[in-house]
Amino acid sequence: MQSILDHTQFRILAAIFVLTIVGIYHNITQLFKTQADRIRQLEQNLKQLERALLQEKELNTIKSQFISRASHEFRTPLATIQTASDLLKYYSHKMSEEKKIERIDKIQREVKGMTNMLEEVLVIGKTESGKLELQPEMIDLESFCLEIVEQTRLLAGDKYQVIFENINAPLNIAIDPKFLRQIISNLLSNAIKYSPNGEEVSFTISQTSDRIPRLLLEFQDQGIGIPSIDQEKIFEHFYRAHNVGMISGTGLGMAIIKNSVSVLGGTITLSSIENKGTNIQIKLPIV
Ligand SMILES: Nc1ncnc2c1ncn2[C@@H]1O[C@H](COP(=O)(O)OP(=O)(O)OP(=O)(O)O)[C@@H](O)[C@H]1O
Ligand SMILES: [Mg+2]
Repeated sequence: MQSILDHTQFRILAAIFVLTIVGIYHNITQLFKTQADRIRQLEQNLKQLERALLQEKELNTIKSQFISRASHEFRTPLATIQTASDLLKYYSHKMSEEKKIERIDKIQREVKGMTNMLEEVLVIGKTESGKLELQPEMIDLESFCLEIVEQTRLLAGDKYQVIFENINAPLNIAIDPKFLRQIISNLLSNAIKYSPNGEEVSFTISQTSDRIPRLLLEFQDQGIGIPSIDQEKIFEHFYRAHNVGMISGTGLGMAIIKNSVSVLGGTITLSSIENKGTNIQIKLPIV
């Protein structure tokens, strides 16, 4: 009797022992699992923090670059504005109406240039810090492009010919117009600016023949081209190619374009030959 009880007791004790061990094992695995989850979470947080810091660092570099550039870039237009307004103030009674308008135009052009530069930097700051939200809306693509082409033609004057063609682009697309406008107007203005002899500029919209078609915007000019050593760098803030000579600019347009294209989920392909011309293709998802 005694030995049977001992045996049962032994089995109970053994069962309790095994259960305890299993319990401990389970707790330990749980503990490890929780710890591993925590470590993973910590690693993720750390990565996010690193990314944010890097973004902040890049923004700070852009900001300080901008301050040093702005003080330099603003000096010339400010001097022009000062001279033109002084002339108007002291000698307007001796000036012909035509001369007066010429001086006022000059002031307005310089102010516009400075405003553009400030706006560009503001846009860069906002997009890079993620503060510029994507606000897609339905647009009539052809009219939208034509409006920008018209504005460009007006700004460029009669010397330039801008040819616009719609091959088979979709009629309406849902896109954030402010980003699309930045891409088109900056690329058109570059194509014209870097074609100093008034060579023809073309802008074509179509659809790619991919399985899922994308919108293709193609800009072609026959201007000064971009030397191959500069091609990779022109998307950096303030970078200008070696062959720009006296053509003015701040080197921000392409950085803005790159930003806008990436925000819209697209790609940029550049092909350019010095003294022959430049071709830029932008592919954007059709939504
Ligand atoms: N179509 C083009 N033909 C030749 N060079 C070009 C063309 N587009 C861009 N580039 C080169 O790339 C550089 C960067 O272009 P980006 O538009 O960023 O600056 P920018 O035209 O100099 O000044 P802005 O900020 O006023 O646009 C230009 O300075 C120029 O050297
Ligand atoms: Mg430009």
